[in-house]
Amino acid sequence: MERSRKPKIAYVAMSADLVHPGHLNIINEAAKLGDVVVGLLTDQAIASYKRLPYMNYEQRRAIIESIKGVSRVISQEVLDYRPNLKKLKPDYVVHGDDWKTGVQQETRQQVIDTLKKWGGRLIEPQYTTNISSTALNDALKEIGTTPQMRLERFHRLLNVRPIIRGIEAHSGLSALIAEHVHVVEKGVRKEFDFFWISSLTDSTNKGKPDIEVVDLTSRLRTVADILEVTTKPIMFDGDTGGSIEHFPYTVRSLERLGVSAVVIEDKCGLKRNSLFGTAVKQELESVKKFSEKIRRGKQAQVTNNFYIIARIESLIASKGLADALKRARAYIDAGADGIMIHSKEKDAKEILVFCKEYKKFKNRAPLLVVPSTYDKITESQLEKAGVNMVIYANHLLRSAYPAMLKTAERILKHGRAHEAAKEYCMPIKEILTLIERKTNGIS
Ligand code: SPV
Ligand code: MG
Repeated sequence: MERSRKPKIAYVAMSADLVHPGHLNIINEAAKLGDVVVGLLTDQAIASYKRLPYMNYEQRRAIIESIKGVSRVISQEVLDYRPNLKKLKPDYVVHGDDWKTGVQQETRQQVIDTLKKWGGRLIEPQYTTNISSTALNDALKEIGTTPQMRLERFHRLLNVRPIIRGIEAHSGLSALIAEHVHVVEKGVRKEFDFFWISSLTDSTNKGKPDIEVVDLTSRLRTVADILEVTTKPIMFDGDTGGSIEHFPYTVRSLERLGVSAVVIEDKCGLKRNSLFGTAVKQELESVKKFSEKIRRGKQAQVTNNFYIIARIESLIASKGLADALKRARAYIDAGADGIMIHSKEKDAKEILVFCKEYKKFKNRAPLLVVPSTYDKITESQLEKAGVNMVIYANHLLRSAYPAMLKTAERILKHGRAHEAAKEYCMPIKEILTLIERKTNGIS
């Protein structure tokens, strides 16, 4: 019988972010079967079901390509193996036997069924149990991050996910919640992508109104507290950005700390919170002056991927859609890296109309919304409308305050702490170890 002269192909799909002996074992086993083609998952494919990899695609490819036994690296652009398998028609797919159970079962079956079409086989070496990516991940979290890595992570996330979500943090503790909280649905891990340093909650937490009375030094203290205990990117609510002459210094200070983005709003005079709407005086800055502020900020920037996001207050000040769109065009021309459109309405109608028109822009920057009043809208609806970033701007503090107030009232009413402690408080044992558990990523 004539033997095929073509070498057999063994296909291995991997993320290969934190490469460990388990990966080498799979590659070695595959190399015994034929030429090893690694399907390296793209950042986008990985971010569709878990955290963004520490190393980007090019960095991961450089490492995998130089591993002994690897013949070729191709990209796998989705979690589903089938598109690559159909193109490559490998003789074997090699994967650790850990996916026989759990969320990957379905993917495994698809691989078996697809391979059958040309007589290919799935080979499943025993999973390496004495090392786990999860443990390595936790170890990395403990080491933390650098300002540069944190700053750039925002840009990377925005580029690989259709929509990213941020939540307000106003202290080390609230940021720890936002850093670690997650849910897993159908094998997809959902978490918050970045922190929003809200002027409203930062001021409120310091017992002051949201009128730019908490100065930059105090605001940066809050940022420092959060930086010390977390690794996720930070977006800073820069209010009006201050005077044109001051804004470049703010940009430099934020970049130096590793903050990824600043949002400045096109208001002037005494700044009042947008959600007051026209119940208070909301004075808009001229397009010319605000564009100049953006330009000066961009000139001051020293890092590559820092975002200056221009926030449009036309709808807040009841100046209409045409004014909002005119401002969006002008701010993008001035160099804004993103546009935030804000609304105080109970439903998302005016925001969705803006989004529809914004989609038609030739020169479009990523779009940010803050659904505080129109909070029935879902992330997937916003994504469909073309929104790239969504912020839950005040919810951690808004939920903490009523709980603290109830506890204080209960103590007064009963003349003792027993009832309040029983109903509203976490056990003493838990608070004693809470921080240790949070910073170890355990809870
Ligand atoms: C903030 O969180 O401080 C904001 C958003 O600027 S809003 O409160 O809706 O104006
Ligand atoms: Mg604000």
